[in-house]
Amino acid sequence: MSASPVTTEGASLVCARAPAPKHVAIIMDGNGRWAKARALPRSAGHREGVEAVRRAVETARDMNLECLTLYSFSTENWRRPAGEVRDLMGLLKQFIVDDLPRLKKEGVCVRIIGDRKNLTADIRALVGRAESETRENTKFTLQIAFNYGGRDEIVRAARAAGEAVRKGDLRPEDIDEEVFAEFLDTGAAPEPDLVIRTSGEKRTSNFLIWQAAYAEYVFVDTLWPDFNAEVFSAAIEEYCGRERRFGGVGGPSR
Ligand code: IPE
Ligand code: IPE
Ligand code: MG
Repeated sequence: MSASPVTTEGASLVCARAPAPKHVAIIMDGNGRWAKARALPRSAGHREGVEAVRRAVETARDMNLECLTLYSFSTENWRRPAGEVRDLMGLLKQFIVDDLPRLKKEGVCVRIIGDRKNLTADIRALVGRAESETRENTKFTLQIAFNYGGRDEIVRAARAAGEAVRKGDLRPEDIDEEVFAEFLDTGAAPEPDLVIRTSGEKRTSNFLIWQAAYAEYVFVDTLWPDFNAEVFSAAIEEYCGRERRFGGVGGPSR
């Protein structure tokens, strides 16, 4: 039997091949199918999905990750029936109201990425409050991608960079990958090392398409409401067995 690619040293992960992941991003998928399998409305799947969010945050902190990004509403999810969109908006609001005091106390910095323009004023205010009340927290960052689309984010960043050029604050020739990335919603945040997608679907669905250019992907069949520490650890273990080459040749000569 071969040695496990992942061990722990104190509370920290030690990976055999890749450096331990610092930032994990998750495409939380399968709430609808979880509900359908139980003859429940889709809203029940989304509600149960919030419990899985709480478990994932706890596990990520236990594993000493620095950042967890969760995809919770895409720019394409507006295509869903109005009632479902309303449910998803309501769950974000409820999550912030219920969990912000605890997250704040536990040293979690909350950031919301995505376009806020089309969100209602009450959600914009809550999201702003979650960010401002946890800004000083440095232990762990929870990024929630809400009304988020990778293409939309890149277009908004391009506009902002163009605006900076127009104002004379930036020269076009000074725009490189690093400078451009600062205009993205994620700003100077570290890129994800690992992207996990649940429910067996194998696509990015417009998630972090700039930032995850060199992330490792792990696809698991588990439906999001069933996601737990065991599934999370197994995904990390798979990541730890990978060799990240970033276009180089890998191995000891890197
Ligand atoms: C993920 O579950 C939650 C969101 C996309 C908001 P889905 O609602 O996509 O569940 P399935 O894919 O229909 O099972
Ligand atoms: C991706 O899931 C978006 C989120 C998890 C928020 P979807 O269920 O919306 O993606 P598609 O439609 O299957 O690609
Ligand atoms: Mg889905």
